[in-house]
Amino acid sequence: MTDAPSGRGRSSPPGIWRTRITEMLGIEYPIIEGAFGTFGTSALAAPVSEAGGLGMITATALRTPEGLRQDIRRARSLTGKPIGVNLTVMTCPGIDEMCQVVIEEGIPVVETASYRADAYGKRLQAAGVKWIHKVATVKHALAAEQQGVDAVVIVGLEGAGFKSILQLPTLVSIPWAVKQLKIPVIAAGGIGDGRGFMAALAMGAEAVYLGTAFMATRECPISERHKQSMAAADPTEPRYRERCLAPPRPEELARVMAERDSEPVDSWLRKLERVMLKDPADVPDLMGDGLTEEAVEEEILRSLPGSLAVAAIDRVVSVRELMENMISEAEDIRRRWSIC
Ligand SMILES: Cc1cc2nc3c(=O)[nH]c(=O)nc-3n(C[C@H](O)[C@H](O)[C@H](O)COP(=O)(O)O)c2cc1C
Repeated sequence: MTDAPSGRGRSSPPGIWRTRITEMLGIEYPIIEGAFGTFGTSALAAPVSEAGGLGMITATALRTPEGLRQDIRRARSLTGKPIGVNLTVMTCPGIDEMCQVVIEEGIPVVETASYRADAYGKRLQAAGVKWIHKVATVKHALAAEQQGVDAVVIVGLEGAGFKSILQLPTLVSIPWAVKQLKIPVIAAGGIGDGRGFMAALAMGAEAVYLGTAFMATRECPISERHKQSMAAADPTEPRYRERCLAPPRPEELARVMAERDSEPVDSWLRKLERVMLKDPADVPDLMGDGLTEEAVEEEILRSLPGSLAVAAIDRVVSVRELMENMISEAEDIRRRWSIC
């Protein structure tokens, strides 16, 4: 848990957060919002961009190319700053058409994820869009560099989302990757405050990528109860650790993948997320049903999305406060290290 400095109104000396990623994307702080397949819309992306990071609209969450187009336009009405789109290969419906919308709407950067994406990446780059690919291992980061990506996000084992059985912790993956890659590396997995941010930069990353930390913000369109339970979560609780750290069970993954083409995309996605994120099958109505307090607690724990980054969350704040607090804390560290 972190004591939260009040970052309000602070502004960093010019240029101290400049990296190849801030230059490439035209953003103030090297902080990027993670993708969310069910709720990653402009509601969260626009405030992140407006606060100086890169907000990310997740095409999967919009379901259709037209839905994506409308949400990009909505984001544009909320901020004039750069915004990105995530295309998650395994789950994004109509990905070819989604690419076309990205190009037509003048989106400057796309992040692809889950499986090889060079066909989409090359098409986007040819249209002038920067291409970032997200991976879970250094081996896949090297392959992405060979394929011509502009940058990679590497998610360490502490992170939320789809797991690889070869995944290593963030502290190991990032320096190992930076030693071998020429393209910029973006660190993800378990980062949620200024200390994690500075640690990632010290390891050689040129930006951080936050999923869980942005979920516990006022603007994130998930339930207030989930946000509060993230702020109160104990990352050492055994089932929570298991859900965050363990890869999916191979037989469950094979079963759900076999159903991919025979089910409507929405219900299939819910099944896939249950297997990959190890969410429970049916979360009961937490507000009613005469559940006892213990049963409610139990269900919150079982259904809690997010990663071990909950260790850095102690209250629900606005996106701007989260980012200002991170920057303020990081500046304090820089001052202690006499580098600013
Ligand atoms: C509920 C939830 C849904 C997610 N959906 C996606 C997705 O659709 N596509 C994707 O690339 N990553 C997805 N992720 C992973 C995040 O984008 C990000 O890589 C991860 O949260 C980083 O780790 P952190 O939570 O420790 O910051 C999801 C994560 C969560 C918690």
